[in-house]
Amino acid sequence: MCGIIGYIGPKKCIDIVFDGLKKMEYRGYDSAGIAVLHEGQISISKESGKLENLRPLLEQLPSEAHIGIGHTRWATHGLPTRDNAHPHASEKLALIHNGIIENYKELKAELQKKGFHFRSETDTEVVAHLLGERIKAGDHPRDALNKVILRLEGAFSLALISDQDPHFIYLAKQGSPLVIGLGKDENFFGSDVTAFCAHTQKAVFLQDGECAALGAKSVEIWDRQGHPIQPKTTMIQWSAASADKQGYRHYMLKEIHEQSGVISKTTHAFVKDSSLDLEGLGLNSIELNKVRSIHIIACGTAYYAGMTAKYAMETTLGIPVNVELASEFRYRNPLLMGEGQTLVMAISQSGETADTLACLKHAKDKGCQIFSICNVAYSSIHRESHGSILMHAGPEIGVASTKAFTSQVLCAYLWTLGAAQKLGRLHAEDLSSILQELKSLPIYMDKALNAEEHIAELANKLYEYPNFLFVGRGPSYIIALEGALKLKEISYIHAEGYAAGELKHGPIALVDKHMPIVAIVPKDQYYDKTLSNIEEICAREGQVIAIGDEKDQHLRDLCIDIIPCPSLKTPCFQAIVSTVAVQFLAYYIAIKRGTDVDQPRNLAKSVTVE
Ligand code: F6R
Repeated sequence: MCGIIGYIGPKKCIDIVFDGLKKMEYRGYDSAGIAVLHEGQISISKESGKLENLRPLLEQLPSEAHIGIGHTRWATHGLPTRDNAHPHASEKLALIHNGIIENYKELKAELQKKGFHFRSETDTEVVAHLLGERIKAGDHPRDALNKVILRLEGAFSLALISDQDPHFIYLAKQGSPLVIGLGKDENFFGSDVTAFCAHTQKAVFLQDGECAALGAKSVEIWDRQGHPIQPKTTMIQWSAASADKQGYRHYMLKEIHEQSGVISKTTHAFVKDSSLDLEGLGLNSIELNKVRSIHIIACGTAYYAGMTAKYAMETTLGIPVNVELASEFRYRNPLLMGEGQTLVMAISQSGETADTLACLKHAKDKGCQIFSICNVAYSSIHRESHGSILMHAGPEIGVASTKAFTSQVLCAYLWTLGAAQKLGRLHAEDLSSILQELKSLPIYMDKALNAEEHIAELANKLYEYPNFLFVGRGPSYIIALEGALKLKEISYIHAEGYAAGELKHGPIALVDKHMPIVAIVPKDQYYDKTLSNIEEICAREGQVIAIGDEKDQHLRDLCIDIIPCPSLKTPCFQAIVSTVAVQFLAYYIAIKRGTDVDQPRNLAKSVTVE
C-alpha cells in the first residue's frame, strides 16, 4: 500500500510534502518519512508510527529545501520500524516506493554477494541499492532508473532524488498508481490526486511502464523503450474536501451519522422527477442488451455490498450474477464471455484496491464490459471502466467503511432498477412504489440512528466477551457478515457472520451461555425462519441480541436485548437501515476496549498491494 508524494518548485517543500502526507495517511500509518535535496545534499527524516511522530524531526531537515519526496507506509516486508521506514538511501540517492518487488530476495542475495550492506528488511532497499550501484558506476540517475526497472518484478511506483542531478525528481510506474500534478513553475506527484489537489487541478496520470523526469518547469515522460510520451492532462474537479470531525469524537462516528444525508444526496443525484437518471447511473455507457452474465468483483466490505446487490440483481434482470472476492477471481481463470457478453462490475470505495483493479484489467483484455461503483473520482478503477457510478458518500476517513458501504448498496440497487427499466423488465407501478419508499429512507435511517444511546449502553455489557456470532437470512445474512467484520477490525474481538440456516451445520457447536449472538431479524419474508433459528440458539443458552422490532413480543421473550430498527418493504432498504445497528455496536464496543477506532492496527484505508 503506502502513499507517496513529492514537490519540486520555488516554494519551501517540507510543509507541502508533510501536508500531502496527511492526506495520504489513509494508505498506511506504520511509519512516515521525508527526503529533501538542498544545495546538492540529500537529507532524510523518518520515524515509525503515525505521521505525527515525524513532525518533531522535520526541524532536522534544511528548511529552505524546495525539492522533497515523502512516504507513509503500510508494512509489507519487515516490521513497522524506523529502519524499515522510507525513504531508503543508497549511493547518492533517496528512494520511496509503493508496491511490492516480488523478486527482491534474488536481487538482495546478488547485492549482498557484491558487498552491499542492508539497513532494512524491506523489498524497497534492494531497488535503492540497484540504483546506487549504477549511479556510482557513472550512470545518470535517469539511465540508472531505466535499467533498474527492467530487473524488477511486481508492482511499483517509485520516486527518486539524487545529488547527481539535483534539479529533477525521477518517477517510474508499474502496477501501482502514480499521478503528476502540474503547477505554475512547480510540479507535484502523488499516489492519487488528493496528495496535491489543494495546489493544482491539472493532473497527468502515468500509465504502466512509464517513467518521468519532474523539473520545476518541465515534465518529461517516456516509455520502457525510451520513446517520449506526450503528457495527457486531465483537469480534475476534486476539491480538497474538508474532512474534519465536526465535533464528533471519531471520523467513524461522524460517518455513521452522515448516512441519512448520503442517501438523500444519492437519491437527488440519480432520481430526477420521480424517474431514474439512466445517464447518471452509467447505463448509457454500456451495452446492456449484450450482457449474458454479470460478475461483481470487490474486497472486504465492498464485497459484502456486492453480495447484497446480487439478491435483487439476479431476479430483477434475469441474468446470472456471480459475486466474488477479487483476490480469488483474479487467479482462478474464470469463464468470461467476450464481445461484451460478460459485464464485470467492480465495487470499491477507494477505486484503488489492487486486486479489484487487476480483475478489471484482465476482464477488459478478455473483451468484457467493465462497470464500476466508486467513491473516489479519478481513481484507477473509475478511469479503467467503460461505465461507472460515482457515489455521493463524500470523503470517508475512518478506516472501517460505514457510509461507503450503505452508499454502495444503494447505488448498486439503483443501477439494478435502471438496468431493469432499460431492459423492459420493471413495471412502472413497482418502480414508483420503490421510489416512494426511497424518499422516506433518510427518515428511516434517522430512526435507526436514534438507537445510538441504547447501543452504547448495551456495549457496556458486551465489550468483554472474546467471541461473537452474527446471524441473519437473505440480505440480513450479508449484514451479519458486515457486522462481524466491523467488530473484528475495530475492536479486535473475534467475530463470525453466518447465514442463520447454516448454524446447525456446524457453528452451533460454539453456542453456550458465554456466546453473544447478534441476530438481524427484520419483519421480512425470512422472519419466521430466523425466529426458529433463534429458538434453537436459545435452547442452547446462547445470548441473543436482536436487531428488529422492539415491540415484537416473541422476540422480546427470546432475546436478552432488542436493538430497535425500523421495518421497510424493500429488502435493500431494510438491509441499509439494519446496518446502522451493527456499525454502532462495533463502534461502542471498540470505545469501551480503548482501541484506535479510526486507524485500527494493521489496516489501511486503501489496499494497493495484492
Ligand atoms: C472494511 C473495509 C475494507 C474495504 C476493502 C475494499 O471496513 O473498509 O474491507 O471495504 O479493503 O476497499 P475498497 O472499497 O476501497 O476497494
